[in-house]
Amino acid sequence: MEKGDEFRLSAELIKAREYECEKEVLIRPEDRPYYHLSSRVGWMNDPNGFSWYNGQYHLFYQYHPYDSHWGPMHWGHAVTEDFIHWEYLPCAMAPDTVPDADGCFSGSAITLPDGRHMLMYTGVVKDGEDPFGFTKLVQTQNLAFGDGISYEKYSRNPVLTGKDLPEGGSLFAFRDPRIWKAEDGTYRALAANDNEDSGGQMLLFRSDDALHWTFVKTFARNNNRIGKMWECPDFFNLDGQYVLIGSSQDMLPKELEYHNGNGTFYMFGDYDPETETFYERSNHAIDYGIDFYAPQTLLTPDGRRIMIGWMQNWDTCNLHVKSTPWFGQMSIPRELHVRNGILYQTPVKELNMLRKTEMVHENILIEDRGITLPGVFGRTADMELMIEAADPERMFQKFAVRFAENEEHHTGVSFRPHESILKIDRKFSGSRRAIIHQRRALVRHDRGKIKLHLLIDRFSVEVFVNDGEKVLSATINTDPRADGISFHADGSVRISVRHCHLK
Ligand code: FRU
Repeated sequence: MEKGDEFRLSAELIKAREYECEKEVLIRPEDRPYYHLSSRVGWMNDPNGFSWYNGQYHLFYQYHPYDSHWGPMHWGHAVTEDFIHWEYLPCAMAPDTVPDADGCFSGSAITLPDGRHMLMYTGVVKDGEDPFGFTKLVQTQNLAFGDGISYEKYSRNPVLTGKDLPEGGSLFAFRDPRIWKAEDGTYRALAANDNEDSGGQMLLFRSDDALHWTFVKTFARNNNRIGKMWECPDFFNLDGQYVLIGSSQDMLPKELEYHNGNGTFYMFGDYDPETETFYERSNHAIDYGIDFYAPQTLLTPDGRRIMIGWMQNWDTCNLHVKSTPWFGQMSIPRELHVRNGILYQTPVKELNMLRKTEMVHENILIEDRGITLPGVFGRTADMELMIEAADPERMFQKFAVRFAENEEHHTGVSFRPHESILKIDRKFSGSRRAIIHQRRALVRHDRGKIKLHLLIDRFSVEVFVNDGEKVLSATINTDPRADGISFHADGSVRISVRHCHLK
């Protein structure tokens, strides 16, 4: 008997598993991202259940195998040992029980003391329409138990319902449970919720056995500051600092923070374990690009806190045609650290094993023109740039690097030292429509000196600024044959480039 055979699989799950096997062979590997995880077939959104189980990292994801657009949510599944090479496993969950009849929304995973992998997720069921004509979904929290391949839903689902909510909490916006084991062996879960008066909130629940749950308290409140509804919480201690992560809908910009309608935030705060109270001290965006949402983290066996996010944006994820065979990809998994009051993000060190030919060009002077450099091109690249004013007494106006470039297309990252602004711009990337395709971030530099680390994949770029103190991520839809890279200066700029082709 194969591992997983003892599970009773529903007709819906068997259908999804057969469908993904049949359709994935129609997608050529070169039409997918090279080192970012993309949907096996159809649509992908949030990462779910990111966890270490039985010697592998498991990543589930919000999944609609039958269409390249969002629909009744399943959980797709992939595993990796190095965060770079992923292997798809069969679809893990389908909407096939009473409390999740219309979808298995986001959630998390934990290993139980008896060795089973447990998924805690949101089940949704349609319940009429709101005054604007949107379908209302009753949302409850549910469990499934498995062996790392197949999962069986708990017979006593749901384990948390509208009855467990504090006053004012909406049962139509109660989701994305993030479970963890407390030091005393009991369990906690944070779930996102909407409060009719104050907007998004994170609710804390507790359990002795991971099966029976009770409400503890409202852990964090939006009070209508950062967007409206909050989603996908995560909470951990890192480098002696408590960090709460969330994603927010309907955000409005605050100076150069929160420029995405749907975006992510992190909060630093103090935490009193006695009263289980979180005291928020500060909040910031996690990613200043266009595409990053709903991240989850895990702790590796060697103690690293790794975060992965959905590299997409709810505002721009519906521009593709229906026949697109896959849609949705994850960010590069990023190692997190807290330094000087900032959440630093750097690509996992395992990415280095993909580095092949390395080209180094040092102290290249660019004066009021654009240049290319020998050996520096490609659509799967890891490139580090050190940029500085050739003459610190005469500050340059602008530096830009363009990539995924040919006569017609390019995507650019530009830096204006007078304004301390870094901008990502994909308006010439070949997108279907000229909607807003740029984001700006305030960056630190030492009189024009700044470090940029670009991860270029076939359909994305991630820009890590100054060793990860800020990150800008964006997907691009440019023909992979557009593989030029060029450097441009308005004024006199000196750059050093370390460029690695990834193979
Ligand atoms: C976030 C989210 C979650 C929800 C899921 C549904 O992107 O809206 O709150 O669980 O997507 O697919």
